[in-house]
Amino acid sequence: MLYSPHLITHRIMPENQEFPMLSLSSRITPEHLFYRRNHFLYPNVDMRFWRLSIEGCVNKPLYFRYDNLLNMPQVTLPVTLECVGDKRSFFEPKTRGEQWGLGAISHAVWTGVRLQDLLHAADVQGNAREVTFEGMDKGARTDMPGVFSYKRSLSLERALHPDTIVALYMNGKPLPFRHGYPARLIVPGWYGMASVKWLHRIVVIEEPFQGPFQVVDYVFNRKPLTPFAPEPITTIRLNSTIAGPTDQEVLARGENWIWGIAISGSAPVVQVEISIDNGNSWLVASWMEQQEAYSWRRWCWKWTVTEPGTYDIKVRAKDAAGNTQSEMADWNVNGYGYNAIQHIRVYID
Ligand code: MTE
Repeated sequence: MLYSPHLITHRIMPENQEFPMLSLSSRITPEHLFYRRNHFLYPNVDMRFWRLSIEGCVNKPLYFRYDNLLNMPQVTLPVTLECVGDKRSFFEPKTRGEQWGLGAISHAVWTGVRLQDLLHAADVQGNAREVTFEGMDKGARTDMPGVFSYKRSLSLERALHPDTIVALYMNGKPLPFRHGYPARLIVPGWYGMASVKWLHRIVVIEEPFQGPFQVVDYVFNRKPLTPFAPEPITTIRLNSTIAGPTDQEVLARGENWIWGIAISGSAPVVQVEISIDNGNSWLVASWMEQQEAYSWRRWCWKWTVTEPGTYDIKVRAKDAAGNTQSEMADWNVNGYGYNAIQHIRVYID
């Protein structure tokens, strides 16, 4: 098929566009197709003045210039980023928030400095509990007065994890401006909200951080009318997606490939199954690549079909932690973490 892919636009200011899942052709998402999720307009970044500071509960407050970071030991990690609002448009009843389809998810190889190296250089004090990360973008919110930076925190333990990095490169090239140049946090295995772009200030604190992107957004508020007990969002839930064919596609009789991705932030995905009879029977798909700790994994399944008609195709995955996908997603008012079994309908001519 001749197909010239481009992003699927939800909003331009701020920019929110998704990866066209149908264009999945390699594990790594090329930069121009990588999804973009922003709360605010892009910030002004002037590299004459840019510094990454480490402040707060540290014995040696420090700042790093860009070249200081480039000259430090680097690590390279393939990591899939997925917005926790991915697939929100499939929730029934509908929820508030950007109505993402299948593609608020993409995969890249990130290179940068271990955050633990920066924190050790600043000599974190014994009373430290969390670490906050501030992006250079800021703006107003509709639910409270004031101007807010995009700011998030991690526990000190997660901040010191050897795979939490301050990325300077994406797919072997300096971080693109839209994805956080000059530096962004990458928290592998977690939903994308934790991976703060245009990072310029790191503050070590002793009290839990209460900023709106930490305690108002990106928490699971359970069903309305249940006691308010927000649960912070962290790890990517087990999920699988059919990239092709697409819903409502008309296919020819003969051999057709069904293909897509699967991911889980908590354990390796061990199996993907396909059903072509609306979930009555399931067949195991083949892997197209090796398991990697923090990467989506592509799968495919060859379907030989001789009978014309309507087919209801489903996909479900299992991970090594014993999770399996179910028919119903865990509904929540903000529409976070949708991971129900995907269902498409195709027609054989
Ligand atoms: N960092 C800043 N500074 N501002 C943002 O709006 N959005 C977060 C995260 N980091 C955001 C941010 C969210 S919700 C997601 S899903 C990812 O960035 C998206 O990263 P991408 O635009 O590079 O795909």
